Amino acid sequence: TVYDNQDIASKKVAQRIATLIKAKQEAGEKAILGLATGATPVGVYAELIRMHKEEGLSFSNVVTFNLDEYFPMKPNAAQSYVTFMNEQLFNHIDIKKENINIPDGTLAENDVAAFCLEYERKISAYGGLDFQLLGIGRTGHIGFNEPGSAPNSGTRLVTLDDLTRRDASRDFGGKENVPTKAITMGVGTIFKAREIILMAWNQKKASIIKKAVEGEISSDVPATFLQLSDHVEFILDKEAASEL
Ligand code: GLP
Repeated sequence: TVYDNQDIASKKVAQRIATLIKAKQEAGEKAILGLATGATPVGVYAELIRMHKEEGLSFSNVVTFNLDEYFPMKPNAAQSYVTFMNEQLFNHIDIKKENINIPDGTLAENDVAAFCLEYERKISAYGGLDFQLLGIGRTGHIGFNEPGSAPNSGTRLVTLDDLTRRDASRDFGGKENVPTKAITMGVGTIFKAREIILMAWNQKKASIIKKAVEGEISSDVPATFLQLSDHVEFILDKEAASEL
């Protein structure tokens, strides 16, 4: 779906998330959301905050699982995805702290595999993700599933692509300061979500969007695996869709 601009698109996505949260509330159930970081979802989070403040949308029944976190990463560091989520969403809504899940960048490397299995188990224990929000990296990554990721991959420690580290270098004051690794939900983890929305804005995403939507399905561009799913929607602005 192509919208005139990212503001309109972000509001539509936020509306869909709000509708899901309210339907779950009425059924007396929790809404299990997979969330993303990066510049792309900021407008969605801003609209959800507005709905909370102005329309009384409650997040008391919402459980969140974030896609990824740099490794190693201290939660209180400016670049951590914990800081990002707190500033962009969690500090401004009534979500319960115990319902927030973000991969732990402080673990000893030996403990990461067990943590990742537990992350998967926890998602399953809630009955799986009702909804997964995605951005896309210029390598074609979803979460931090870089080229080479398998379609059935689970949550795990990965090595970041050079282009991904270059794209993150501004946040870290130089590529050399960007962690070389990250913990990410796998392509397989993402796939199990009952509804998936991938968003992309601006001209700089146009060529990777063309590859993701129209390119050959291959682990060279992990986002192409989304072509195999019947419950994925790409939501784009005109610029990101301009090469389709
Ligand atoms: C990071 C995140 C991804 C995100 C990507 C794109 O690599 N781990 O989940 O999709 O950045 O970022 P942006 O939205 O800033 O373009």
